[in-house]
Amino acid sequence: MAKLFSDTVINEVLDRSNIIDIVGGYVPLKRAGRNHKACCPFHPEKTASFIVSADKQIFHCFGCGAGGNALTFIMQYEKVNFREALEMLAQRSGIPLPEPEKTDFQRSKEDNSKKLYSLYEKAGTFYHSNLLNSPEGKTARAYLQKRGISKETARHFKLGYCLPGWETLIQDLKSKKEPLSIIESSGLVVSKDGGGYYDRFRNRIIFPICDIKERVVGFGARVMDDSLPKYINSPETPIYTKGKNLFGLNLARDFIRTLDQAIVVEGYLDMIVPFECGIKNIVASLGTALTADQIKLIKRFTSNIVMLYDSDLAGEMATLRALELLIKEDMNVRIALLPKGDDPDSFARKHGKDEFLNMISRAKPIFDYKFELLLSKYQANTSTGKDKIVKEILPTVKKFKNQTMRAECLKRIAEELWLNEGALFKDLEAAKEEYEDTGSDEQDFTSTAVGHYRLKEIPVTERMLVKLMLEELHIVDKLKNMIDPSDFVEEKLRKIVKFIFDFFGQGGVECKPNILMNYIDDEEAITLISELSALEIHDCPDKEKLIEDCVKRLKRDKVHYLRQEIYKEIQTAQSSGDDEALTRLMRQLDTLNKEYNSLDKQRSMVNG
Ligand code: CTP
Ligand code: MN
Repeated sequence: MAKLFSDTVINEVLDRSNIIDIVGGYVPLKRAGRNHKACCPFHPEKTASFIVSADKQIFHCFGCGAGGNALTFIMQYEKVNFREALEMLAQRSGIPLPEPEKTDFQRSKEDNSKKLYSLYEKAGTFYHSNLLNSPEGKTARAYLQKRGISKETARHFKLGYCLPGWETLIQDLKSKKEPLSIIESSGLVVSKDGGGYYDRFRNRIIFPICDIKERVVGFGARVMDDSLPKYINSPETPIYTKGKNLFGLNLARDFIRTLDQAIVVEGYLDMIVPFECGIKNIVASLGTALTADQIKLIKRFTSNIVMLYDSDLAGEMATLRALELLIKEDMNVRIALLPKGDDPDSFARKHGKDEFLNMISRAKPIFDYKFELLLSKYQANTSTGKDKIVKEILPTVKKFKNQTMRAECLKRIAEELWLNEGALFKDLEAAKEEYEDTGSDEQDFTSTAVGHYRLKEIPVTERMLVKLMLEELHIVDKLKNMIDPSDFVEEKLRKIVKFIFDFFGQGGVECKPNILMNYIDDEEAITLISELSALEIHDCPDKEKLIEDCVKRLKRDKVHYLRQEIYKEIQTAQSSGDDEALTRLMRQLDTLNKEYNSLDKQRSMVNG
């Protein structure tokens, strides 16, 4: 993992936090002997196979194989990266983190962004004062008034007006000593063919788009008549990426959190007008379909979404497309319907807050919305119509994991279309699941479990030795002289052993499993360490003897393994008639056999 913080800092944060408190903050832990237990948060289970060890400062699930230290727990649970997990852990443990070390490239990128934020702020202020105070702004003020936007609202949203002169913004910014290179990279001006620049948004109403930290990152600009294009938006810059912001979220976020619901609309005024009417938990997606980034933004505040798009074809399409992503993000979605011809802006102005809330409360669950849409789209009284409806609705039904819910949907389809429920059930089985998981960024426990190394597949001797090394520091030094990482047949263990040996060569830091994990850049190796550390070995009266036995068995197993490999090669040589190779291999086998026998004798002497 790329590290922005030094190992000392990372180790200190880990050392000063207690995994029992950290995991206990997410999962109810119960004491069980030396460990704590719980039902695993990473896979569904009824009996607890998830253990947390205070001694070792690690967690491990014997059910799905998940495991690691306090940091990897936060990473897996909160779905954050290493750095974010470290910051969270440091904060919880009250340890201040130093500023992460930055590369020159990062520094210049940040400088550039800082300059852009400041430039957008200045541009926003300039547009805003032109709207409120300039004589030329009179037409803009009249336009907004006509659309029912009060002066207070204009102030609240810091709406603006870009003067009709061609270079008013650029002159203003220059007079404020903004360098041309930054003005140019802001995208607020457009270069002219013959040289020079003109204001991109000239003679338009300005809607500032803010990020969640209240910084202006872009603008939308609307004409005041019917000319086209109706809106022009800021181009992408280092501080603005399309589809990554939600208009109004900076003002609506706290309401969304408290009401535990977000209403999502399409346009600037669709957000502004209802907001001013008293519907505060509302944001606009700007453009058509909601993006995955926008959904993730909302998810920080609520998992309940009401989609409120125009009741035209474009709105329906955008809604259907968003549903796919919303389901994938595990959001609880309903769809509110506007009367034909209305958008949220006109509806709020005509009917006011209470009716608006009424309409929201009547929002439909996904199935109802889609089914009714299909019923109106196809002719449900013809067999081709029925066929089309069934084909399009079944994949949606299949998505519901809840069997009762599925059954209810099928019942409804059967009733409306006069179809046989049993036949529909069979079709459902055959139907492909809609929005099939592309698998990339999702934490799917089954696939994780498969990816995890399962201990039982590893030879017991190899496991035992690594377990002993993880348990007691002093034996590492001893073992270093007796065995080599290459003695381990299991590749992951070989890697871990090599690592432990190297680690101790460099000053002999204490071999705490949780600290060790921070240095190993291999997720499977980490879960393997957690599993080995979590296993209890029965108290062994003579550890020295146990180690000796293990080392001998390890050597013998290794020779045995090599013998098997040679057997395979011999078979190949035989079938291809390669006599030369055969002789060489037989000689090798002979040596190995002798070695094996002598090791075996030693073993029986030890055992005897
Ligand atoms: N939009 C855009 N560019 C366009 C048209 C629309 O970026 N040429 C975006 C704007 O964010 C707009 C939203 O899509 O707010 C919805 O478009 P539309 O319904 O056409 O506009 P309204 O928001 O209803 O605008 P108005 O009520 O002012 O006509
Ligand atoms: Mn509109």
